[in-house]
Amino acid sequence: MAPITTATNQSALNTDTPATDQFYNDVIAGLISTPKHLDSKYFYDANGDKLFQDLMNCPEYYPTNREMEIFTSQTQELAKAVIAGGDAFDLIELGAGDATKSSHLLAHLIDNKADFTYLPIDISGNVISYLNITLPVTLPGIKITGLQGEYFEMLKKAASISDNRKVVMFLGSNIGNMPVTDAEEFCRELRNNLSAGDMVLVGVDLKKNPKTVLAAYNDTDGITKKFNINLLDRINRELQGNFNTAQFDHYAMYDPETGACKSYLVSLAEQDVSIGQQTVSFKKDEYIYMEISQKYTVEQTNDMAELAGFKPLSHVFDSKGWFVDTIWMAV
Ligand code: AVI
Repeated sequence: MAPITTATNQSALNTDTPATDQFYNDVIAGLISTPKHLDSKYFYDANGDKLFQDLMNCPEYYPTNREMEIFTSQTQELAKAVIAGGDAFDLIELGAGDATKSSHLLAHLIDNKADFTYLPIDISGNVISYLNITLPVTLPGIKITGLQGEYFEMLKKAASISDNRKVVMFLGSNIGNMPVTDAEEFCRELRNNLSAGDMVLVGVDLKKNPKTVLAAYNDTDGITKKFNINLLDRINRELQGNFNTAQFDHYAMYDPETGACKSYLVSLAEQDVSIGQQTVSFKKDEYIYMEISQKYTVEQTNDMAELAGFKPLSHVFDSKGWFVDTIWMAV
């Protein structure tokens, strides 16, 4: 996206870092668009991380628990599929976070003397330092090389570090936070960064009873609402905004036909909001599109794999059949 350099906003902010510039440019570009939108990748400041933790513990939000069940009770299945590709390998995790789920697989692979190096990739330097320090303590014997940066840049770096075959994990239904066409493009780019015989393990939230999906994004305690509203608070804190967050409500909808679950913030009044020196006007009931959490059928994940140049090898489901960790091989 081209930087926004109009006279009104150029000197509006004391932007110390390019990251803040980028955040500002993305926010303004999104809010002067029709319809208004914000990028959900900005949900995750320290507060957003904490709210996401709360969400993962709330009874309606099932995806984390469903995938955790796969990693704890079907570890052997996952390990077998990963090891089947051959000898020494690099196990790469995109957006590793605290590696809570993958730790179960790592422990199993270490116990079974698999010859692998774990390369967690994360945009956060804190996350990478944390993993580099803690995993050798909790998982003695682990070989770990943490990589901080953008996924595809770090995948290139991983390729330059070793010739070992690669197994890339992309867990947590993070692929669902892209519209379908972007997810397809993401898979193509992933394939372009891999070689034939490399593998990926993707965690995908499946289509299910629409009420179950909707409840996960519309929890009764209102944590999802706080999670969305936090981005307005973040804009206030970091970009000198003056959103009155009490004047916005959260609205979630799920379309069982397309599998798109979308979150919005709806303006409860006609109002002007300043962000730096830029003013954004809202009509009453005007919405900001905040996030997509796309749900798929297994067949759709197979199609997505094939379209991108992968062959689907296996599917590991949770006991309710709500979530799948699917394993693909680059062809
Ligand atoms: C991180 N991501 C997979 C979550 C999801 O389910 O789409 C983010 C989230 N948004 C609202 N609740 C959880």
